[in-house]
Amino acid sequence: MIVTTEDLFKVAYGKFAIGAYNINNLEQCMGLFQGCVDSQAPFIIQISKGARSYTDKKMLEAIIRAADEIFPDAVFAVHLDHGDLESCMDCINSGSYSSVMIDASHESFAKNIEITRKVVDTAHAKGISVEAELGQLGGVEEHVSVSEANAKLTDPEQAKEFIEKSGCDCLACAIGTSHGAFKFTGTQGLHFDVLEEIQKKLPGFPLVMHGSSSVPQEEVRRINAAGGDLKGAKGVDENQFKRAAQLGVTKINIDTDGRLVWTRVHREFFRDKPEKFDLRDPGKIFMKEYAAFIAGKNEKLGSAGQLPLIKKQLGIK
Ligand code: G3H
Ligand code: 13P
Ligand code: ZN
Repeated sequence: MIVTTEDLFKVAYGKFAIGAYNINNLEQCMGLFQGCVDSQAPFIIQISKGARSYTDKKMLEAIIRAADEIFPDAVFAVHLDHGDLESCMDCINSGSYSSVMIDASHESFAKNIEITRKVVDTAHAKGISVEAELGQLGGVEEHVSVSEANAKLTDPEQAKEFIEKSGCDCLACAIGTSHGAFKFTGTQGLHFDVLEEIQKKLPGFPLVMHGSSSVPQEEVRRINAAGGDLKGAKGVDENQFKRAAQLGVTKINIDTDGRLVWTRVHREFFRDKPEKFDLRDPGKIFMKEYAAFIAGKNEKLGSAGQLPLIKKQLGIK
């Protein structure tokens, strides 16, 4: 059942984080639903601008509606990831989204507020909630490229002013993560001190952590052993998710890890079975492996096993 992102956050805040997983095709969608039902976890499906234009924006929305029928036990929200003004308005009007993210973090503070406010006013009129971003993650985002050297963590004082003026419903904070498979070069990690300060200034306000793939070293090893070249890939320690959740992080974004599972399955499959060419053979393995990956990730987020609580609190039978 599709629910509002806001409802999921109300139940989760301070207790656990909801996994927000990006999908681009039906195999990812099936694996995601299966993994979340198996682990009894609520979840958020994220669709990026790139995912919307991979085939046709209607395609993923239709796949999600079908999955909703196939998995009647699933409880989830549908979210636009890293939208701009145009894509936010499009998703708000589509009727298929629970929430949108307006990412104007590359703009000045004032411009970020102005653009976010526009989206908030339109979205709220339709009962859709809005995620905004303040601060800049290192690495490469969908339409924003920020070098690691220029990465700027979120300023807690500015965060308070930002949410008051923009009216956003949750805030993506830069606390040391970056998108992609190469997050850290040395011993850097999450800046819990910054997160603590933000929570002090914004008690009860849902925070979002982007760039949260853990880039499992065993996946990287297997990909490289099967012909890949991902030297130095490194991610976030997933054992830190629960601490982040206690500090107000209610949504944790994971995309890269799913891509790694896909790459490992397909590289190993075609390495070991060079005579095969039926795409459904590796596809079936991927759906099963991705479901297992999702279920394991939900354990780390603390969302596994929370479906009965969510259903009770939201009055879902
Ligand atoms: O944060 C970005 C997400 O991982 C989406 O990536 O723009 O390649 O779909 P994408
Ligand atoms: P990763 O690249 O760490 O998976 O981050 C995904 C993300 O933040 C999507 O918005
Ligand atoms: Zn992101």
